[in-house]
Amino acid sequence: MSARERCRLAVFASGAGSNLRAILAHAERNPDWPGQVVLVVSDKPGCGATAIAAAAGVPVFAARVREFADKAAFEQAVLSQLRAHQVAGIALAGYMRLVGPVLLSAYGGRIVNLHPSLLPAFPGRTAVQDALAAGVRETGVTVHWVDEGLDTGPVIAQWRVPVYADDDVERLWARLHRVEHLLYPVVLGELARQWLTGAAGATAGG
Ligand code: GRF
Repeated sequence: MSARERCRLAVFASGAGSNLRAILAHAERNPDWPGQVVLVVSDKPGCGATAIAAAAGVPVFAARVREFADKAAFEQAVLSQLRAHQVAGIALAGYMRLVGPVLLSAYGGRIVNLHPSLLPAFPGRTAVQDALAAGVRETGVTVHWVDEGLDTGPVIAQWRVPVYADDDVERLWARLHRVEHLLYPVVLGELARQWLTGAAGATAGG
């Protein structure tokens, strides 16, 4: 597959970036993977994800929202970068911020998120802690379309993960991360294939 045929993707991240690393590694191992990460966007300059992107030679746009007049101005700056890099689809991977109207109106139906629970159960930042506190015997990982809510968009894919009696947050997180690193690149590849042909979107694919 030539570079021209790949779907140009941006990954948004605020943290360690293990999912970004997994996506890049998957693309490297699978020459037929139909996506290409052409930009990493972060609201946390210096976070792990920006270092992983830089080491892989992927362009980074990293800036703090407080450097801008407001969140809309931040998103306008992000949008300029997305357009400059001809990004067709966005994968949130530990992006700890709600996507606002500027990006949703430009990329609505082409933004997906990864979440460490079986949504709609346990939305929000403390999904793993909440699952443990609730005493559930099973949780999981969800890939879903992004809308204006917090982890509320239609589900694309889920993978169930057991919770064991002696689990703590660290052990459960590790199990969930292993699944995320397998699931997200595969789902993104399928979406990239559909985006290349204009077939996927929150309404069509959700
Ligand atoms: C992932 O576990 C994802 O489910 C959540 O944020 C975490 C990011 O981890 N939305 P990493 O930065 O990819 O390691």
